[in-house]
Amino acid sequence: MCGIYGCISTDAADKVLEGLRKLEYRGYDSAGLAAIFPEQNGPIETERTIGYVADLVSKANGRFTGSCISIGHTRWATHGGVTDQNAHPHSSDDGNITLVHNGIIENALHLSERLSKLGYKLSSETDTEVIVHLMDNEIKTQSDELTYLDAFSNVISQLRGSWAIAAIISGMDGILVSRNGAPLVIGRGVDNISVSSDVQPFYGACSEVAYLNDGDIFYISGSGISSQEGSMIPGFETLEGVYDEEDPGNFEHMMLKEIFDQPTSLSNVLSGRITADGRKARLGGFSLTPEEIRSLDRINLVACGTAYYAAEIISAYIRKFSNVRSEAFIASEFPARSVCSTNTLTIGISQSGETKDTLDALFDAKKNGSNISAICNVIGSTMSRLTANGAYLHAGPEFAVASTKVFSNMVATGLLFALTISEISDAEQQEIVQSLRELPNLISKQLIDDDGSIDTAAKMIHDSEPPIFIGRGGMSSYLAKEGALKMMEISYIPCLALPGGELKHGPIALLSDGSPVIAIVPSDGKMSLMESSIRECKSRGARIILITDSEGPITELADVLIQTNKTHPDLSPLVNIIPVQLLAYNVGVLRGVNVDRPRNLAKSVTVV
Ligand code: F6R
Repeated sequence: MCGIYGCISTDAADKVLEGLRKLEYRGYDSAGLAAIFPEQNGPIETERTIGYVADLVSKANGRFTGSCISIGHTRWATHGGVTDQNAHPHSSDDGNITLVHNGIIENALHLSERLSKLGYKLSSETDTEVIVHLMDNEIKTQSDELTYLDAFSNVISQLRGSWAIAAIISGMDGILVSRNGAPLVIGRGVDNISVSSDVQPFYGACSEVAYLNDGDIFYISGSGISSQEGSMIPGFETLEGVYDEEDPGNFEHMMLKEIFDQPTSLSNVLSGRITADGRKARLGGFSLTPEEIRSLDRINLVACGTAYYAAEIISAYIRKFSNVRSEAFIASEFPARSVCSTNTLTIGISQSGETKDTLDALFDAKKNGSNISAICNVIGSTMSRLTANGAYLHAGPEFAVASTKVFSNMVATGLLFALTISEISDAEQQEIVQSLRELPNLISKQLIDDDGSIDTAAKMIHDSEPPIFIGRGGMSSYLAKEGALKMMEISYIPCLALPGGELKHGPIALLSDGSPVIAIVPSDGKMSLMESSIRECKSRGARIILITDSEGPITELADVLIQTNKTHPDLSPLVNIIPVQLLAYNVGVLRGVNVDRPRNLAKSVTVV
C-alpha cells in the first residue's frame, strides 16, 4: 500500500525512482515524482501518472537528471479514483511546495472547507491535497522569524488521522517529514540521506537506519536530522538484514518462487529454536517467561487475512498443548475491553508488521492492561518496535501480494511458541519436534513430486462454479478458509470455506451437478466424519478434489486426488497448505490474472 521514497544526493530523482521500484511490491495504482535542482528557485518540477513506476520513468523522460533533492510516491487509491490528478505529489498553486502522503486525513473535509473560505481551490479528490494548501497558507501568514519546519509543525497539528508525509519547498536544502500511524524510516549512506516507507530500498544505498515514531516531525538534510526544540531525534542504527531482489529467477512468478522457497524458509524458522538434543522447542524473544505465560488467564492473537487464519491454527496449538485459554481475533474486530487485563498476553501476527488494523488492536490491548508481543516478519517494523518483544518469522522478504511462505512460517513459529509453553509430556513433544525437523525435506519432496493432479484440479475449477473448501477438526477448517482466500485473491472466483459439518446446515444448497468441492482430509480422528461430508456433496453431484495423505478407502471418493506426504497430524496444515497454494496459483494463471499483483490488493495495508 502507498510507498514514499525521498532522497538528498546527487541525481536524487534517479535514486528515488529506484527506491520506488523497490517499493512496488507493496501494491499501487499510480506513481509520481518531484525534484529540486541545485541553485533552483521557483516552481518544483513534478511528474505523475497512473500505472507503474516504469510509466513514470517514460513520462519523466530524463527531465529529472541532475536533481539534488527528490521525493516520490506510489499511490494505492483510498480517497478519489485512480487518475493522474489524484496521484501524488500534490503541489501548491505556485508550484513552490510539493508533498507526498500515505495514510488518511480524517478531517480533510473540514480542512478543505476552511481552505475554500481562504480562497484555495482543490484540484484533486484526495485528502492529501489539503495539506499542501495549508502549508502554503501557513508559510504566507507566519511571522518572519519562523522557519519552514515551524510552518510544517503547525500544519501537522491541524491534521487528524494517519500519515507519513515528505514535503519539499523550493529553495530548501532538505525534506520535511512526519509520521503518525503510517510507517516512515530514514536511511543514511555514504552519498545520501533518504526517507522511505520501509527499509527494502535502503539495501545497497544506506548502511544505517533511523526509525521514526508516531508524532515525529523532522527536517532532514545533508547534515542529518533536525527538529524543533524539545523533540527527540532518533539515533541511526546499523541496517540489519539483506536485500532480496524481487526476481523470480527460473520461476514464472514471484508467488511460485515463494511457494517453492518454503523448505528453506521453514528451515530458517526452526534454526536455533530447538534444543541441542533435538527434543524440545525453545522459542525465545518474549518478555514473559514460559512459566509466566502458563499462568496467564488468556492469550489473544490478533491478525488480518492470511495472518488471521495462521493465528486460528496457532490458537488451536496453544489450546491443545497448554492449559492457557487462547483465541484468535480478526484485528479490526478485536473486543479489547472484554478480553484484556493485566493477566493476559495479546500477540500481533503479521508479515509486514505495519498492518494498521493489527497495530490498532495491539494499542487497544495495551490500553486495557494486556501484555503485548509480536510474531512478525519484517525486522524493525512498527509492530516489532511497538511490542519490543516476540519472535521474527525469518521467512525472508515476501514480494508477491498473496502471502504463501510467510503463512507457513507463522504456523511453524506459533507451533514452536505453543510447544515452548506446553504442558505435554516430553515424549509427546519430542515426537512433534522430530517431525518438525523433518518437515523442510518432506515439503521439498511434496513440491518436486508433481503427478499432475493439481493441474487437473485447476482445470476443473478455473471456469466452473465457485468452489467450496471444506475441512474438519479445527486446523483443517482454518486451512480451508486460507485456501478460499488464496483462491479468491488471485483468481477473482468467489469461494466459500467452512467446516465439513456445517455444509448440511445451509451451504449445501449451493451444490449442483459439477460443483467443485475441495476437501482437506488429513489422516486424523476426523477422517470418517469428513467422509460423511464428502458423500453428502457427492450425492448432490459435486466433484471432489481431495487433498489427503491417506491411501485408504476415502481416496475412492475423489474425482481428483491430490496425495500429500504423511506427517505428524498436528503438522498437517504445514503440508496441506502446499497443494492449496499451488491450486490457487494454477487457477489464477489459467484465468490470466497477474498473480503477483492481483487487482485492488496491496501487500502492506496501512489504512483502517
Ligand atoms: C493474503 C494476504 C493478506 C495479509 C493481511 C495481513 O494473501 O497477504 O490477507 O495476510 O493483509 O497482512 P500482514 O501479515 O502484513 O499483517
